[in-house]
Amino acid sequence: MSKVFVTGGTGYIGSHTVLELLRNGHEVVVMDNLSNSSAESLNRVKALTGISVPFYQADLLDKEAMSAIFAEHTFESVVHFAGLKAVGESVEKPLWYYKNNITGTLNLLEVMQENRVKNLVFSSSCTVYGEPDKVPISEDAPLSAVNPYGQTKLTIEYILRDLFQADQDWNMAILRYFNPVGADQSGTMGEDPNGIPNNLMPYVTQVAVGHLPYLRVFGNDYPTQDGTGIRDYIHVTDLALGHLKAIETLRLSPGLIRCNLGTGNGYSVLDVVKAFETASGVAIPYQFMPRRAGDAAAAYADPTLAETLLGWRAERDLEQMCKDSWKWQVNNPNGYS
Ligand code: NAD
Ligand code: UD1
Repeated sequence: MSKVFVTGGTGYIGSHTVLELLRNGHEVVVMDNLSNSSAESLNRVKALTGISVPFYQADLLDKEAMSAIFAEHTFESVVHFAGLKAVGESVEKPLWYYKNNITGTLNLLEVMQENRVKNLVFSSSCTVYGEPDKVPISEDAPLSAVNPYGQTKLTIEYILRDLFQADQDWNMAILRYFNPVGADQSGTMGEDPNGIPNNLMPYVTQVAVGHLPYLRVFGNDYPTQDGTGIRDYIHVTDLALGHLKAIETLRLSPGLIRCNLGTGNGYSVLDVVKAFETASGVAIPYQFMPRRAGDAAAAYADPTLAETLLGWRAERDLEQMCKDSWKWQVNNPNGYS
């Protein structure tokens, strides 16, 4: 099997993808600057697979460090997760987000080009659809950015498009994730956000474990069945497996592809609360609050293209997502620390 370079491989989605790559016989090398993760995730990967993954603590902004890694290994493909992802922080520190995500990606692409490694899987986001005018969202929906984080994803998508137009030896899969949640079924790996979580599922699990008093539900006056926002939650293991399918697809039918990775099912905030309570047996107190700025009423994927192009479909349901999120949180109340 192939040797895969994974940037951001100690992070939430990256570490779960490393795990699935190893379980499926790939060789993996990880790079991360540990700005938003812990190398402990790779110890957990080792405990589950018996494999000690070569790890480089290095920064995308340090091109020489990346060149040195490419000099030591022959990679077939790169899966590029590394980047900053907090929407609110991106509004406060736009220059930092542009530099880290865009300059960082340009450095990676240059190093890949210099080493003639031209197979790339890139972590994009449903944020590139801005405020969607219809659901389900298919890949041909209009693109826009509503904050600097989203602008970095959109800009990188355009950079990849232009690079492919200039040199069709590149093979690229741009994967637009919907809302990743859940954890490996072992309960030993999961999402470990810094500070108070911004996203729904880690907030709910921290309420359940007693770290936070109650959930603030942002808005109960949306035009949805119960008034709360609707999203497409996808189990991180399904998402990880989508990357394996993308690597295979690039090998069999090269080119540039863009596709949604979502389940196609929309669930409201209260649906998630109820499913979590059932899965965990723990009550989640909540209070309705005003809408959060920039939130759409409903966003869920049309996942048809991923099935056609990649032969991939999400298999795990909301109950499994809640069970696995809970198992991780209850076994690791302080995350990896
Ligand atoms: P994460 O923060 O857990 O992982 C990202 C990793 O990148 C972290 O380990 C961080 O330390 C590392 N990193 C950041 N800047 C770096 C740099 N300059 N050099 C080296 N490493 C650097 O986040 P995640 O949830 O695993 O997200 C992975 C990717 O998927 C990101 O690109 C994110 O934007 C994208 N994405 C995430 C979501 C989501 O909701 N989690 C949704 C859509 C897209
Ligand atoms: C967030 C990001 C988005 C990214 C997406 C991918 C923001 C503003 N947007 O979107 O850029 O592409 O993740 O995963 O961060 N909610 C509550 N209470 C909370 C937290 C969330 O009610 O404490 C609600 C939200 O209003 C929303 C839903 O839960 O309706 C999901 O929120 P969240 O998990 O933050 O994801 P997104 O808003 O979809």
